[in-house]
Formats: sequence, C-alpha cells, structure tokens
Amino acid sequence: MRTVTIGILGSGTVGQDVLNLIGRRQHIFDDLGVRLEVAGVLVRDPSKPRNIPSDTPVTAQPDFLQECEVVIECMGGIERPLELLRPHLRSGRAVITANKALLAERWDDLRAHALDGRLYYEASVMAGTPVIGPMSTVLRASTFTRLQAVLNGTCNYVLGQMEAGQPYAEALAQAQALGYAEDPPTLDVGGFDTAHKLTVLARFSADGNFPYQAVQVQGIEDVTLADIEAARAADERIKLVATLERQDEGWAATVAPRRLPATHALCTAGASRNAMVYEGEECGSLIFAGGGAGGMVTASAMVGDLLDYLLGFPGHVPLH
Ligand code: NDP
Ligand code: HSE
Repeated sequence: MRTVTIGILGSGTVGQDVLNLIGRRQHIFDDLGVRLEVAGVLVRDPSKPRNIPSDTPVTAQPDFLQECEVVIECMGGIERPLELLRPHLRSGRAVITANKALLAERWDDLRAHALDGRLYYEASVMAGTPVIGPMSTVLRASTFTRLQAVLNGTCNYVLGQMEAGQPYAEALAQAQALGYAEDPPTLDVGGFDTAHKLTVLARFSADGNFPYQAVQVQGIEDVTLADIEAARAADERIKLVATLERQDEGWAATVAPRRLPATHALCTAGASRNAMVYEGEECGSLIFAGGGAGGMVTASAMVGDLLDYLLGFPGHVPLH
C-alpha cells in the first residue's frame, strides 16, 4: 500500500462534499493500492458544525500543509490561497483547485506549474461537467474557431426564477442559500465569475496566456422582469452568455446578458444547467451541458482530478 497524504483548504459547500466523496470512493483507492491520509482541513472556525466524517482533523492552523503530497484547495479568495499554495507548488507538489478567480487573476504565479502538469482544475469551469479535460487534450487537434457558453449557476438560477415571476433579490437569496453563489455574490451577478471561467477556457483554445483583463464584462443586475417577459413573448430566453471568437488578428472575449431563441442549445440545456457550444474546424460543433454549481457536482470533478493524479496523469496543461 502506498500512503498519500493530502491536505484540504476549506470545508464549506465544496470542501465538505470532497471529504464525503473521498469516503464513498474508498474502494477505488483500495484498488489502486493507495491509502489516503487526510493530514488536515483548514477552516476559519473549527468549532462550526460540519457534515463530514467525525474523525476529520479540522483546524485553523495551516502547518499540516508541509507534510502533504497533494493539496486540494476549496476555500476561495485570491491572496490567502495563493500564499498557502505557493511553497507547495514551488517544491513541485500537486494542487487541485476549483478556484477560477485565482486561476484567472494570478496566472503569472501559476502558469509555470500548470505547464509542468502540477495543477489540476477541472472543477473550476462548469464544476462536474468535464470541459477542461477535453479542451486540454483531444480537442487540440482541431482548429478552434468559437465558443459560446452559460457558465454561472447562480445567474442561471436567478434568471430562471425570474422567468417564473420571482423578483431578482429573492431569487438571488435562494441561490445563495443553495450554496451556488460566490462570496460576495457580486462576482456572480456582475458577470465576473463567468469572466474568470472564460479566461480559463481561453487559455486552452486561444492563447495560453490569455489575460483576465481582456474580457469585456456586463452582468445581469439590470435585467428586469419586463425584459424577461418581452423575451418570452418572442419565444426567447435571457441568459448570461460568455463568447470567445476571432476578431481581426486576435480574440474577442465578452460576457453579457443575451436574448437567445428558446430552441438554442444554451437554453434547451435547462434552467439549472451550464452549457457550452464549442466550435472547431475539424471537430465541428460540440455541445457540453450539465451541473455547473453545487457541492457534490463540484466534488466529483475534484476527486476525479485526485484519481488522475494517483494514476499518474498530468494536470491541465494550457497552450504553450
Ligand atoms: P464556502 O464559502 O462554502 O467555503 C469556504 C471554506 O473555506 C469554508 O470552510 C471556510 O471556513 C474556509 N475559508 C475561507 N477563507 C478562509 C481563510 N482565510 N482561512 C481558512 N479557511 C478559510 O465556499 P464554496 O465551498 O462554495 O467554494 C469554495 C471554492 O470553490 C471557491 O473558490 C469557489 O469559487 C469554488 N467553486 C464553488 C462552487 C459552488 O457551487 N459552491 C462550484 C465550483 C467552484 P469556515 O467554514 O470556517 O468559514
Ligand atoms: N458561483 C458559481 C456559480 C459556482 O454560480 O456558477 C460554480 O463555479
């Protein structure tokens, strides 16, 4: 048996389900001849009640990170996780993260580690719906032309509830209660979370160094019930749409609310699902759709990344 010591940053919506899913998949680790040892789970308040195995070493002290082979980051934020992960990455060890804000905004600190295959981040875009895996591997053989996507579960939920007549503020409060929203939720409704995710995707399809600042962002805060009703009357839906397409010699990346025909693939995916239409010259038009927010669906991608690591597969390598 090989012992692999892991550390987890955060035990909120995502972190709790990562721990629970690791427990459920014990037989797979056994089959791989791996004994996983959780050295520590970093939180702000260790006294908070949590839905995790009772023997989990929950702590507010990050010292345990020194002894970890792999760190799974699900705490959010930018500066604090980077500070905690930096020594770990610099010593050549692996990191699994769902943190698209960190990936998008601090790429200068992370890119070399991603190119080395030490950074795993399938969960950062569309949570458990695999898009980074195919984009970082098989889809590279095809010339990328354009993508259009709905990448934020909170906005999808809010717009869906508004279609049913619920006011914006109530719908947003419900999305927060369901654990979909970022802290603060302005990241979602302002379009910034979608822009973070689009930046991550652009680095597999357009430019390995695509800068977050290049995305033009508009959120859903100004969408009214009247706008939604007017769209419905024309058999259309309003979605927060991320688009990446060629413009002159470069790429145009935008995030904005758009009216789409109700029959469009981004609408037929369903009000609670993320979706992406990916177009390449040789691969044609591909549609990906599935859960894009929530604890267990995100944990499924993170534990999948952990299995990839244990099997010896590299992390997600951006364009060189
Ligand atoms: P939560 O707010 O539910 O959980 C955050 C966890 O991190 C909490 O356990 C919190 O501790 C801990 N934490 C936060 N800041 C610190 C700190 N400075 N020091 C120590 N511990 C800290 O967030 P989520 O689980 O929803 O999200 C986590 C990450 O996953 C984010 O990057 C998010 O963008 C990403 N993500 C989230 C998805 C979702 O659907 N929720 C989907 C895909 C990605 P305590 O519990 O004590 O407060
Ligand atoms: N806040 C994000 C969303 C979580 O609503 O999509 C998943 O990345």
